[in-house]
Amino acid sequence: MEHIVAETSSDFAQAVLAGLGQPRKTIPARFFYDEAGSALFEDITRLPEYYPTRIETELLRRHGMEIADLVGRGRPLIEFGSGSSAKTPLMLEALETPVYVPIDISGDFLAASAAALAQAHRQVRVHPIAGDFTGPLRLPVLARPLVGFFPGSTLGNFPHAAAVDLLRSFRGTLGARAWLIIGIDTRKEAAILEAAYDDASGVTAAFNLNLLHRVNRELGGTIDVDSFAHRALWNDAVGRVEMHLVATRPMRFRAAGSVFEMAEGESIHTENSYKYTAEETRLLARTAGWQPVKSWFDADQQFGLHLWSAPETILEP
Ligand code: TRP
Repeated sequence: MEHIVAETSSDFAQAVLAGLGQPRKTIPARFFYDEAGSALFEDITRLPEYYPTRIETELLRRHGMEIADLVGRGRPLIEFGSGSSAKTPLMLEALETPVYVPIDISGDFLAASAAALAQAHRQVRVHPIAGDFTGPLRLPVLARPLVGFFPGSTLGNFPHAAAVDLLRSFRGTLGARAWLIIGIDTRKEAAILEAAYDDASGVTAAFNLNLLHRVNRELGGTIDVDSFAHRALWNDAVGRVEMHLVATRPMRFRAAGSVFEMAEGESIHTENSYKYTAEETRLLARTAGWQPVKSWFDADQQFGLHLWSAPETILEP
């Protein structure tokens, strides 16, 4: 299995210099997913407070056959941000997938997950692509229509305009008559949302703080990580959970060859997780040129699984 490595440490250095140089400090979320971060993220998905994985897995299990009836069996499956590919076997089995293309930024993690999956599903050809799925992608030559798979509410990690751009680029990547199976978290009470992103056992905190350890490891950083605290807050006005790393004392550190200062209480904003109502989800699909076909929710409407099609699918006989 061949793969291309798209992310370099100089991307990381440039992003950290740019992000920490702003009046409101940020580090882009794609840098969470080094090997340690990818492993911590797997732990997040098993937390009792983190309902999205549990509910989405249940929805995929319950509605897999109906999805297969709608999209047809034997189509190639393309997964954006595949991580450990934990939910993928449900799709491979229901859709009778002949070719699976997992795309993920964490090259080592991807290679291991893809190899394990190929081992367990010998009838499936696996073509991993290591890289940033927000950039232009070249897929192997595959018979259309293709089925895109974008679970985990990863779409929620993009601001609205970027989410629309990303969904449009998926249409371009997947081509004519494509389908997209996408999981999107719903708006709900602040207490449930904040607990999902700030669990009692501190795994999400460790995941967020790993970004600072990564700066120290890879960019010659001198950050006193113990002096930062993880914060998750629901911002109702914009409909997102925000993740921050808050300085608990004034500090000064080096990273990527520059010196940075932070006041006590100042934060580095590391991630957003936007939540969408059913209506907002349909609007998002249509704005990006996808046709909503069907949605499935759990009884409490905690999480939504959606099937969209590229318009050609509808127009063709
Ligand atoms: N797509 C996931 C989500 O928004 C990613 C995620 C889960 C995450 N927990 C996190 C990102 C904690 C940053 C911090 O739910």
